[in-house]
Amino acid sequence: MKKEIDDNKVVILSGAGISAESGIRTFRDSGGLWNQYSLEEVATPEAWRKNPKLVLEFYNERRKDVSKAKPNCAHKAIAGLQKKYETVVITQNIDDLHERAGSKNVIHVHGEITKARSSTDPRIVTNIGYESIDIGSLCASGSQLRPHIVWFGEEVLNYEIAREHIQTAKRVLIVGTSLSVFPVAGLLKKARYHSEKLIVSLDVDKKPYGYQFVRGKATEMVPYVCNSWLEGLRVI
Ligand code: OAD
Repeated sequence: MKKEIDDNKVVILSGAGISAESGIRTFRDSGGLWNQYSLEEVATPEAWRKNPKLVLEFYNERRKDVSKAKPNCAHKAIAGLQKKYETVVITQNIDDLHERAGSKNVIHVHGEITKARSSTDPRIVTNIGYESIDIGSLCASGSQLRPHIVWFGEEVLNYEIAREHIQTAKRVLIVGTSLSVFPVAGLLKKARYHSEKLIVSLDVDKKPYGYQFVRGKATEMVPYVCNSWLEGLRVI
């Protein structure tokens, strides 16, 4: 039997677009990372086996970008929802801007740039902050460290817990994602018929059934959505 909808729960599913206005590049927009880099060469287990130095350099650059970025008003508005609602942020982003904006319950499904893990034992995960990982950087058991990032072909993290949250949320906001990477993109279909469901983005290829599309920048539209919800109103 399906769990009951929790009237007090808001779930956010965010992607690179929410951090774009903080200066972090998206993946698939013009100027996006996958237009400059071949993802096969930097974001797969094969790439790691073939050229770990290149992979580490790619993610060291990403970490440096994150260290310079600041949360924007969209991240902050989402954190502000906690005043009234149980707020769960499911993010595909590897940056820490939701946390730095004050969100307490952030579920990273594609990993975290501020963490490293053993290349031989995925259970050994350590916080590295904004330090780089180099060839020769070792975990506690003496193996090479790799970024704590989900590469293509690897299993996403925390999927079940993310699914449970979206299934019980009364309000769901999808923001800044092209919804092109599965299984996470498929999570939005787990939201309930009777919940309020919105997508904020510059564009969407195909509006998913049951969702209202709010076209615009995250920094403009997300505060508007969050303020409406804080006042207990439906957005559209
Ligand atoms: P994408 O680059 O695929 O999509 C970014 C989306 O954000 C697009 O739909 C844009 O229209 C929208 N966007 C851009 N700027 C925006 C702004 N200022 N306000 C609102 N929306 C904006 O990024 P993701 O969907 O996050 O995975 O990509 C999903 C996954 O693909 C990433 O987590 C990453 C990547 O490969 C891994 O590395 C495993």
